[in-house]
Amino acid sequence: MSRVLVTGGAGFIGSNFVHHLLSTSEHSITVLDALTYAGNRASLDGLPAERFELVEGDIRDAALVDALVADCELVVHFAAASHNDNSLQAPSPFIQTNLVGTFTLLEAVRRHGRRFHHVSTDEVYGDLALDDPARFTETTAYNPSSPYSASKAGSDLLVRAWVRSFGIAATLSNCSNNYGPRQHVEKFIPRQITNVICGIRPKLYGTGENVRDWIHVDDHNRAVVDIITKGRSGHTYLIGANGERSNKAVLESILRLMGEPVDAYDHVRDRPGHDRRYAIDNSKLVSELGWRPEHRDFEQGLAATIDWYRHNRDWWLPMKQATEARYASTGQ
Ligand code: NAD
Ligand code: DAU
Repeated sequence: MSRVLVTGGAGFIGSNFVHHLLSTSEHSITVLDALTYAGNRASLDGLPAERFELVEGDIRDAALVDALVADCELVVHFAAASHNDNSLQAPSPFIQTNLVGTFTLLEAVRRHGRRFHHVSTDEVYGDLALDDPARFTETTAYNPSSPYSASKAGSDLLVRAWVRSFGIAATLSNCSNNYGPRQHVEKFIPRQITNVICGIRPKLYGTGENVRDWIHVDDHNRAVVDIITKGRSGHTYLIGANGERSNKAVLESILRLMGEPVDAYDHVRDRPGHDRRYAIDNSKLVSELGWRPEHRDFEQGLAATIDWYRHNRDWWLPMKQATEARYASTGQ
């Protein structure tokens, strides 16, 4: 069976994708991951050695990328600098990885005539008003707010240009906020779960009215598999599971599920340029590829995620202190 090159496979979504693909197909997988602060070898523990290898390296390393792309049939590109707050403190890695890294991969894909799937975000579309009935579609105009989302928007446009000008075979997906196991504790849901476990008061930015459209990471990855197997080359697919919730409501659910008073948190400094609301219209994915989310009960998925963090302290405890120290320096 063919080999798939997965960039960023030691990160949150990429590692869950690797576990999913190896357990549901005969493919072999090579992960290319720089193991930045966000990558974790332990997320790839227990995989079958005869069908899986981890190459520690940078997607900007043109010689390494060329050799790995030559040796695969398909590239699934998850690697990115991924956290908005970090992009506001230090934008450089976002430009380097998300733009230069994606460019480096595209050039190798072009040279070797390989297929490419680009994993991107709904944040490229900017935000919606809280009371706007509209949702993002594949034709919504790009309007990114942060250095992170601008760099992802730029990477999407590079992929589209390589399709049109050089004829590479590529698909793109733009997904909403993921939750589930193996997510770095800098992100909203794992930060608050691990805060409660550590006896730290959870932190809500601003008023907490901002809305995110939550999807379980396994549903995201099943959609990516549908797109790489059935999607049309050159097309973009939006991925979302009708999971709109305010940050305040999500935090209250976490506190309730963990047996804490629902108001046991602090309001902290808001994120500069904070996007108000994301919402995905998933009609194209559903009608064209027949995708449906399996995790339809958010509270149940959240409870399972809380369980995962309770039972996997060794995975996240080493990164917790440094993460909270970083937040403390920005008043968040
Ligand atoms: P993550 O930060 O958990 O993982 C990113 C991975 O990329 C890490 O393992 C890191 O070591 C690796 N990496 C970073 N720079 C690299 C480089 N220069 N070379 C090689 N590897 C490098 O991110 P995530 O949340 O898993 O996101 C994965 C992808 O999905 C990203 O492209 C992100 O934009 C997109 N996305 C994320 C979400 C979400 O809710 N997390 C939603 C939609 C789309
Ligand atoms: O929409 C997809 C995007 O979702 C992905 O492209 C990004 O990679 C991913 O990080 C995520 O971006 P957000 O900025 O929405 O996620 P984050 O987990 O950082 O924050 C979610 C919301 O919670 C956001 O409105 C900010 C708020 N927040 C975050 C943290 C860390 C808080 O209120 N308190 C916090 O401590």
